[in-house]
Amino acid sequence: MSLFTSFRRSPASSRRAMMTPDKCPYALMRGATVWEMCGSSDAVNASINNAMAADSRFLMRMVMEECGGIFRGINSLVDVAGGVGGAAAAIAAAFPSLKCTVLDLPHVVAKAPSVSNVQFIAGDMFESIPAANAIFLKYVLHDWGDDKCIKLLKNCKQAIPSKDAGGKVIIIDIVVGSSPSDVKLLETQVLCDLDIMKIGGVERDEHEWKKIFLAAGFRDYNIMPLGLRSVIELYP
Ligand SMILES: C[S@@+](CC[C@H](N)C(=O)[O-])C[C@H]1O[C@@H](n2cnc3c(N)ncnc32)[C@H](O)[C@@H]1O
Repeated sequence: MSLFTSFRRSPASSRRAMMTPDKCPYALMRGATVWEMCGSSDAVNASINNAMAADSRFLMRMVMEECGGIFRGINSLVDVAGGVGGAAAAIAAAFPSLKCTVLDLPHVVAKAPSVSNVQFIAGDMFESIPAANAIFLKYVLHDWGDDKCIKLLKNCKQAIPSKDAGGKVIIIDIVVGSSPSDVKLLETQVLCDLDIMKIGGVERDEHEWKKIFLAAGFRDYNIMPLGLRSVIELYP
């Protein structure tokens, strides 16, 4: 059995048990989690914010071209842990009548450029999330173990209306095995899992995603694979 296969066969929960956020390699080396380091080091804060803004410039063009329709009909959207607003800027540019808000930690929001049609709010997503038709979570849930994800998703559910009233959560993250016949892609997704483990995160397969969605009280979801990552629409 290859390292990849045996590693993937251990469920996310047991991989998490091996690596909690405060005991992950990053925290053991630095004495703080990566998000704590961003709050105390301008250099670390800038490098993460710039990397994520670059990722959004690359990825959001593809999202808009391939499945931009997922934003149609939404009046208000909160990009939770949206960094310095790279993804929100792309959404707001494509849908000018959409009220777009970015929520992130104070030291991140303080560095955000002014973006046309996008409002920034400093706060903690594990405390509360402003109400909106839709919540957007790009590359956020993979940073956290199941318990934190369930807490965060419950906060998202509280912030949105029912499915019939148009409420949904839009997630962009890796779904390991999203294109099962593509072995190179699967290897890349598994390597991402090893990589994110450094900071106490985990890449999930569909079964592992479904488990946290249901535990947070959501009923239904739809996965659209988009290269390495997938776009997931999640309904209350
Ligand atoms: C991997 S980055 C993703 C940024 C953005 N969603 C993107 O894809 O460009 C994770 C983000 O989570 C934010 N974050 C971490 N803990 C948070 C918290 N408790 N409340 C709000 N944001 C938080 C970080 O500041 C960072 O901007």
